[in-house]
Amino acid sequence: MGRDHGFHPVRITRIIQETPDTRTYVLDAPFPYRAGQFVTIKACGTLRSYSMSSSPETDAELMTTVKRVPGGLVSNWMHDHLAPGDVVETTLPAGVFCLREGDGAGGVRELAAPVVAFCGGSGITPILSLAKSALAGSGRPVRVLAADRDAGSVIFSAALGELTERYPDRFEVRHHLDDRQGFATADQVREFAGDTTEADFYLCGPAPFMDLVENALLAHGVAPERIFVERFAQTAADRPLRENPEQEPEELPEHDSTLTLVLSGKRHTLAQRSGETFLESARRAGLAPPFSCEAGNCATCIAHVTEGEAKMRVNNALDDDEIAEGWVLTCQGEPTTPHVTVEYED
Ligand SMILES: Cc1cc2nc3c(=O)[nH]c(=O)nc-3n(C[C@H](O)[C@H](O)[C@H](O)COP(=O)(O)OP(=O)(O)OC[C@H]3O[C@@H](n4cnc5c(N)ncnc54)[C@H](O)[C@@H]3O)c2cc1C
Ligand code: FES
Repeated sequence: MGRDHGFHPVRITRIIQETPDTRTYVLDAPFPYRAGQFVTIKACGTLRSYSMSSSPETDAELMTTVKRVPGGLVSNWMHDHLAPGDVVETTLPAGVFCLREGDGAGGVRELAAPVVAFCGGSGITPILSLAKSALAGSGRPVRVLAADRDAGSVIFSAALGELTERYPDRFEVRHHLDDRQGFATADQVREFAGDTTEADFYLCGPAPFMDLVENALLAHGVAPERIFVERFAQTAADRPLRENPEQEPEELPEHDSTLTLVLSGKRHTLAQRSGETFLESARRAGLAPPFSCEAGNCATCIAHVTEGEAKMRVNNALDDDEIAEGWVLTCQGEPTTPHVTVEYED
């Protein structure tokens, strides 16, 4: 089946308090990863994804950085309950919010295009990872516009300052503080982007901030394929992990096609209605496979198509190799053949 998308026990070696509501968890996890990727953590009976703030090019340890979300289940639990020495269950790193790997036909040739990043709040996490890798692993200039509520909310100001000192000719960070300047505007985005529409633009932050930046860049003439977006968005509902043993899968006499789901080692053959994703069909039938964002961002709902074929509406999490191996985001997957078998990893 190729990639390992299961969970692995990982020890927390250190916890760094970055700001009053943000902590970095240093993990004893010898996982290979690319800058900008995330791991998915199993906690409180549910799943949440957290990006690496470390870079494989510059950091010996793997680190994720978690900001408390008011009223949020897992982020607050991690802050309030986890201590060095504790073990958490995580997936291997995943995600496609990564630096492009060169453009040479006969192998990887170093890209020269500048990296220009716009981030808000905890969106700095994968951006720091990307910046460290681009600076250490290439000659690309890197510029970051970091928007935060106020000075006390700025995460990684010391790390960003160190990068400015180390790469004075290639790295620039501009802090935008809402309490002093109001929310960022399209004009400020265009001004920060400058004349270079040939850069690679990386966006991560609250949805309204990213929409503003993306629209401003497109209006500025940046090609859509030059804009890379990481969405932290999650649905608010509780997300059960396991099947509900009380409820039998619904039998439906009329349906467009059939779906066989293999979940926790059990096979269920269900109706697959036209227009439904695999996840929606499973839920309608009373099953509860794993999911988190339901937006194609986190890969929590990943499964393997072992019979038939499928397509995804949105995919912000799987790379081309994973798709070729048959992996699908079930929250975005729809059948393209009359019968599909989808197997979840245990
Ligand atoms: C690819 C990816 C990478 C990510 N990387 C990071 C990262 O590096 N750092 C980081 O801090 N976060 C990151 N996130 C976000 C993270 O996964 C979580 O979404 C975040 O920590 C909030 O989770 P939570 O369990 O604390 O909050 P949740 O419990 O999911 O709650 C989220 C919000 O919904 C509200 N809410 C909860 N239940 C209800 C309800 N029943 N009705 C109404 N409102 C409700 C809460 O009050 C809260 O405002 C990432 C997400 C993705 C998809
Ligand atoms: S639940 Fe996040 S990608 Fe499907």
